[in-house]
Amino acid sequence: MIKNLLLWTTITLICIAAANVSDPAPTPQYTADHKLLRPENYREWIYLSSGLGMNYSPVSMGEDMFTNVFVPQWAYQTFLKSGKWPEKTMFVVEERNSQTRGSINQHGKYQTDSMGMGVEVKDSARFPETWAYFNFNENTKSAQANPKAACFQCHEDHAAVEHSFVQFYPTLKPVAKKFGTYKQAAENTDRGPK
Ligand code: HEC
Repeated sequence: MIKNLLLWTTITLICIAAANVSDPAPTPQYTADHKLLRPENYREWIYLSSGLGMNYSPVSMGEDMFTNVFVPQWAYQTFLKSGKWPEKTMFVVEERNSQTRGSINQHGKYQTDSMGMGVEVKDSARFPETWAYFNFNENTKSAQANPKAACFQCHEDHAAVEHSFVQFYPTLKPVAKKFGTYKQAAENTDRGPK
């Protein structure tokens, strides 16, 4: 009797643990009609950096948002050894509203509600252009790749390492420079008014 109880408790605990464990090496997962499934647990990935109110046109638009960038642990490890992103790398840029007044805070900004997220994948087996871009909000389960003009071109033209904006990720920049994969020209400030 006691033995049975112990056995069932153990089995139940194992099941609970299995359900909660996140994929140790997350890669892009797709539906049968080529939509990307929303990456879950990205908050457990490696955090690269945050932008605050970054904007690529001269006119600012409303309240500044934070952009928090994440990449899976396994892809980050490969980058540290090579300065390059392996196939099946995924990036998430999470957008959050910002606020100044709240609780004891008087100055500066802290992060609040999620405003959605952008996802970028390196997957040449699936996309002829290797890099593809997607948008998700809290309720989107899967998303179609965005048209090239929406995201791809700016990343192609201005990112410092392959399609990633390593010029804005302070811990990755020295790694890419060491391996010679850093495009110095991406730091030029000749876009828009000074
Ligand atoms: C005008 C240029 C531009 C366009 C268009 C653009 N991005 Fe980006 N993207 C950036 C910059 C700059 C960063 C890095 C700064 C940051 O943290 O926000 C970035 C970062 C990212 C990242 C984090 C990984 C990386 O590449 O550094 C993802 C994911 C991303 N963008 C997705 C998208 C998606 C999805 C779209 C289209 C809906 C898009 N981007 C359109 C400029 C652009």
